[in-house]
Amino acid sequence: MSVARSSKARGGVKRRVNESQVRAMTRHILSLNDFSSQEMQELVDRAIELKSERKKGINHSQLSGRIIGLVFEKPSTRTRVSFESAMYGMGGQVIFLSARDTQLARSEPLKDMSRVMSRYVDGMVIRTFGQEVVEELARYATVPVINALTDLHHPCQVLSDIMTVVEEKGPINALKIAWVGDGNNMANSWIEAAALMDFELTLACPEGYDPDPDILKRAQVSASKAVTLVRDPHKAVAGADALNVDVWASMGQEEEQVERLKIFETYQVNQRLLDSGKPEMIVLHCLPAHREEEITEDVLESDQSVVFDQAENKMHMHKAILEKLIS
Ligand code: CP
Ligand code: NVA
Repeated sequence: MSVARSSKARGGVKRRVNESQVRAMTRHILSLNDFSSQEMQELVDRAIELKSERKKGINHSQLSGRIIGLVFEKPSTRTRVSFESAMYGMGGQVIFLSARDTQLARSEPLKDMSRVMSRYVDGMVIRTFGQEVVEELARYATVPVINALTDLHHPCQVLSDIMTVVEEKGPINALKIAWVGDGNNMANSWIEAAALMDFELTLACPEGYDPDPDILKRAQVSASKAVTLVRDPHKAVAGADALNVDVWASMGQEEEQVERLKIFETYQVNQRLLDSGKPEMIVLHCLPAHREEEITEDVLESDQSVVFDQAENKMHMHKAILEKLIS
């Protein structure tokens, strides 16, 4: 009896040691800073390759037998469908969970959810509010946790947007990128990307709606090119190769929507703003867009807009990310 107990105890200790070792080795994408610049470049190159292979009808099965769980606490069209089609397109399978249908909605601790999910699936893709939620899940997970948008970051979106810019304009480190509007999750991820991938970034945000000050400061210290915050949107687009715009009120800020319409009025991406930039400057919007608010219909539908290629590229980039982390 005592032998059995001690052997069971030894087994228990061994299992715990193995689990913590696996946990320590597991890669996550909580923000773009989880990658090196070389890895980001490799993901962009691989996503472009996967896109061209799909167009040639080449099938992939690298993720056959693998399952990812999508846990979404906010709405999504593009991110959900592009992750699902990326996974199916590589032979894998997906379980989608709306967070309100899980025990999270009844206050099950994240650390329990993370360890349980880790035993069912090979990766977790999470869309939620606080960055601390994805961090807590990752702390306990033994499979990769992928941030599919928090209030602070939208790393996978910015990776696929960089892919779009590279397709249109060539190597990113020779380009100047502009951001006009709210200093939100997208802006923060663009700032991290600029420092990692060595491109110039100018953001124009109204006072009081700046990007996260710590993220900006860190990037400004480590970046080899200028990462600049200005107030005048015309200044940001001058000389830019690509202009990024996003909604003025992000998910979770719906109550501020009306107030923000007035505050952001002069930050609208319209023809007058485009006239301050190069005629060949491309316009990106991660979508969904609010026409005649942050961007006018004519600009969104113009030849300078690449928003639908940008949306498509999410699927190719998600394939590259899943292949890197899950296969
Ligand atoms: N761009 C983006 O993340 O879109 P969804 O909210 O539709 O996923
Ligand atoms: N900043 C937006 C992006 C939507 C894809 C939001 O968080 O709602």
